[in-house]
Amino acid sequence: MKALKVGLLGIGTVGSGVFTVLTRNQEEIVRRTGRGIEINMVADLDTARASAVVGTSAQVVNDARAVIANPDIDVVIELIGGYGIAKALVLEAIAAGKHVVTANKALLAVHGDEIFAAAAKARNGQGVMVLFEAAVAGGIPIIKTLREGLTANRIQWVAGIINGTTNFILSEMRDKGLDFATVLKQAQALGYAEADPTFDIEGVDAAHKATLMSAMAFGIPVQFDKAYVEGITKLGAEDIKYAEQLGYRIKLLGISKRVSAGIELRVHPTLIPTKRLIANVEGAMNAVMVQGDAVGTTLYYGKGAGSEPTASAVVADLVDIARMSGHASQATPVLAFQPASVQAAPILPIGQVVTSYYLRMRVSDEAGVLAKVTGILAEAGISIDALIQHEAKDGENQTDLIILTHDCVEATMDKALHKVETLSSVLGRVVKIRKEELA
Ligand code: HSE
Repeated sequence: MKALKVGLLGIGTVGSGVFTVLTRNQEEIVRRTGRGIEINMVADLDTARASAVVGTSAQVVNDARAVIANPDIDVVIELIGGYGIAKALVLEAIAAGKHVVTANKALLAVHGDEIFAAAAKARNGQGVMVLFEAAVAGGIPIIKTLREGLTANRIQWVAGIINGTTNFILSEMRDKGLDFATVLKQAQALGYAEADPTFDIEGVDAAHKATLMSAMAFGIPVQFDKAYVEGITKLGAEDIKYAEQLGYRIKLLGISKRVSAGIELRVHPTLIPTKRLIANVEGAMNAVMVQGDAVGTTLYYGKGAGSEPTASAVVADLVDIARMSGHASQATPVLAFQPASVQAAPILPIGQVVTSYYLRMRVSDEAGVLAKVTGILAEAGISIDALIQHEAKDGENQTDLIILTHDCVEATMDKALHKVETLSSVLGRVVKIRKEELA
């Protein structure tokens, strides 16, 4: 069978990885696919860099539209990133009848519904594929898992460490007792964090990925705008230490849960029991847990970024396309559910989310403080699970009071904390971090 002809838009770290992996493993890949996969054209503004990677094996151009216009190209790989030109090029490639493989989670989390609808209508209704294994958790095949491996299940929740930069920072903060700002500077110097790390540290990158997993887990539209997003910038080194004393680690989790009122979709720092395997995922590694009614709890672990791990996912998507004999209708539905069966479901505002909490407050070391604080929580129906209060340091008449609660509705918690903060013996704001047992 004729080889699958591929055009690559953007040959940076991941693009070079795709080229290297395809070249090195060509023979094995052909045995799996039944046909060759050839990168015939590469578009990059830096044509010298592109030529240095591909040599004479592919035509190098500086105009992405020349790739899309080439009738011989079957698949366009988009590795440009962002919502701007990448969106235009992906839609143009679809309109030209090309299948698309992309690692662009931001694009799909925000404009996915439009892009998937265009793909379904392309080629006079035959459709084209838009595959994106590399967009979530890099080399971990979590998209294929949700799309294919777990299709027997009614999925209850998905929770993952899906941003390596923040997991590296949290691991360093815990290991070395350093604060966020110091570790961020080190991470940038070591090249782990981008010069502008906003999307990573503010939780936006993780929310893009959680949004895609949520759509695939529950058969709902892609709704990044409804996600609750909280990063790690305000996390104190002392909270990591206290959590440890209580048997928990703090991780930035992307969580999506099916509950009776709708779907929870949220990214925030989360206490996880240290005894869970996922709590021990350290450094820049990623891990995702999926809970299905038949399979129970499953865990997927691996590298969430990097040249060859991400290329592993991109090439797997190419193999899927190469295995089809032309019609997108022969393929597994890209969002795991048949497009006509995608159903709207309310994404719950964070105030309606039910979870348990870690609370830290600075209190005056005086009679009755504990009774007043626990009294307010009890009045709100919030049950306490554990509590630490160390004696005040010599010469200080204040100390930290740390409370773990059982589950309650977030709006109820916020109302109670508002009352707690008005107590004269409670000094400053109460730190509130959500906790998940992931059992
Ligand atoms: N910036 C991401 C991370 C990798 O730190 O995990 C690409 O999604």
